[in-house]
Amino acid sequence: MTKISLKEGISWVGVVDWNIRDFHDYVTSCGSSYNAYLVQDEKTALIDTVKATFCNELITHISELTPLEKIDYIIVNHVEMDHSSGLPIIAKLAKNAKIYATARGKEELIKHYGTEFERVEIVKTGDKISLGKKTLTFLEAPMLHWPDSMFTYVIEDKVLMPNDAFGQHLASSGHFDDEVDQVVLMKEAITYYSNILTPFAPLIVKKIQEVIDMKLPIDIIAPSHGIIWRKDPVKIINAYIEWATGKTVKPKVAIVFDTMWDSTNKMARAIGDGIASQGVEAKLFKLRCTENTEIVTEITDSKIVLVGSPTLNNGMFPSVGMFLTYITGLKPKGKLWGFFGSYGWGGGAIRNMTKMTKEAGFEVIEPSIELKWVPTEEEIKKCFDYGVQIAQKAKT
Ligand code: FEO
Repeated sequence: MTKISLKEGISWVGVVDWNIRDFHDYVTSCGSSYNAYLVQDEKTALIDTVKATFCNELITHISELTPLEKIDYIIVNHVEMDHSSGLPIIAKLAKNAKIYATARGKEELIKHYGTEFERVEIVKTGDKISLGKKTLTFLEAPMLHWPDSMFTYVIEDKVLMPNDAFGQHLASSGHFDDEVDQVVLMKEAITYYSNILTPFAPLIVKKIQEVIDMKLPIDIIAPSHGIIWRKDPVKIINAYIEWATGKTVKPKVAIVFDTMWDSTNKMARAIGDGIASQGVEAKLFKLRCTENTEIVTEITDSKIVLVGSPTLNNGMFPSVGMFLTYITGLKPKGKLWGFFGSYGWGGGAIRNMTKMTKEAGFEVIEPSIELKWVPTEEEIKKCFDYGVQIAQKAKT
């Protein structure tokens, strides 16, 4: 493989996963990569490994730069298996290497891979490991993405390796931000943020502030998925601050619905027309036609989300239940939520959707709009007027 160099002595040794399309229910249409880095000085450190199924490729990439037994340190930034399941194999080959992780990381490594990882040494924020002229230091980053997560920083080269943070599920033959289409890159970055990191928005803002306070100059951000930010690392930091603080939110309404015999679809379209009549953007997403991954990304810059469901068996439609399960887990902050739907006799979908979202702490617009059987012309007008009211709320 052509050497992929971040700075002198710092190389990408990861793997590109062109074929992955499902990353724990996140639809990864553009594939992904598992980035690992080799830092070579008087001592050699491997930062993270890869998914076990790709371990042979990682071994080949490392071997092109150094024999594995010459690795002195293995840094485990994060234990989730896309980064660590190759570790048991690598640890056997790099038999002289000391392994470092956070306290939670050590605990999780033992639970994942057995007691041989009791030898892992614990590092905390500010700890340093000298490699010679280069020094590694660490920044604990719990919940970005798991309790064990940490960032590794190469002080002299100003290279930050934050593992999951600032990543994208994007397979590419180019490894750097100046080698890929910027629109595709930022689309995959926001999709990744929305589907992986939304629940941790306040922690992201705090962690970025911590990095600023530590006065760590950053030349390169080298995440563990996708493209490395070397041309413009500030671009992704600013984007994260904007997404996490809701600065990109605009008067936009996402209408997420499913339909059984077309009544809820008719309602969705009439509500959307009412919203658009006020100059406010409305986007309709029929569940079973659109992946949750895409809908969640669209919600990041939406002010209001309307969810529509027909009543089935006295409750909400199954696809709506799946969507609400996903979104109430992600808990996007600062949105308003409204509900609409049709029913035949007893109803139940609106009641269940309202209960589920209120229990998750969502702010719900009431009253909802619920119609029996097929909407009449007059009821379609009522939906349009509801859309007009929603547009007014979106503008405030
Ligand atoms: Fe890429 Fe949380 O693992």
